[in-house]
Amino acid sequence: PARYAVIGHPVAHSLSPRIHAAFGRQAGIALDYTAIDAEPERFDAVLADFAAQGGRGANITLPHKAYAATICQHLSERARRAGAVNTLIRTATGWEGDNTDGAGLVRDLTERHGQDLRGRRTLLIGAGGAARGVAPALLDAGVADLYIVNRNGAHADALADALGEPDRVHPRYLSDVGTLGVFDLVINATSAARGGTPLDLPGGLFAPRGDAVDLSYGEAAIGFLSWARASGADKAIDGLGMLVEQAAESFQRWHGVRPETDPVYAMLREHDD
Ligand code: ATR
Repeated sequence: PARYAVIGHPVAHSLSPRIHAAFGRQAGIALDYTAIDAEPERFDAVLADFAAQGGRGANITLPHKAYAATICQHLSERARRAGAVNTLIRTATGWEGDNTDGAGLVRDLTERHGQDLRGRRTLLIGAGGAARGVAPALLDAGVADLYIVNRNGAHADALADALGEPDRVHPRYLSDVGTLGVFDLVINATSAARGGTPLDLPGGLFAPRGDAVDLSYGEAAIGFLSWARASGADKAIDGLGMLVEQAAESFQRWHGVRPETDPVYAMLREHDD
């Protein structure tokens, strides 16, 4: 069968092979989807090798999403706006890059968690690859003011500039987050939990019925979501649903079929608890 993979570093614990195997069984499509570890210096060589061995599509994950956008012959509109790619599609001339992260997040929040994002005053914490992937979709979904806070202010400025909506998008220093008022939606898109220094946030950031979302899941989401519950968040949502939804969107790009995500989400959630 055609080959598919997720390429990242580290990647051994990725759930994507299980998710795509489950989608494939559901759709009756035999597919070979593996996890391939590639250190940044080796990314080009690993991808070339994968293509030579019949690779037809790949998910790209940390830390390669921004770099992957630079090697594509063609970028989808949403990948171009994100400046990051999480899905590669083999074409006759090379790779097309797409980004399904933002659509995955919005679908999880609206369909699975019943949220209406329109008009919600939103705080996005972080300005790296993960934040870039979801910001355009949040704007498209109609959030009201989008505050982007980051430790390094230049990164927040760069993301805000790239989004090109100065009336709606406001870059700020993370250290000033306590001065920005309250939010209906607070999204953690930092990698703080994967590094040594925990994210340090003040209380009082949530509006009544304000919700928290962490783009990661499992261990990595625990710190932020516990803080959010203790700070009065209504819902505290991890990134597992987004993971399944972005996978479904990638699966559809490759195979032309939209899988049912609920059973796969339920299966992963069961193992998670
Ligand atoms: P990812 O692809 O996960 O977004 P990244 O592109 O390296 O990874 O971006 C990491 C993000 O997490 C950045 O916004 C980073 O802030 P800086 O740009 O200031 O480095 C943020 N981040 C990482 N550790 C953090 C910490 N301990 N506190 C606050 N922000 C942190």
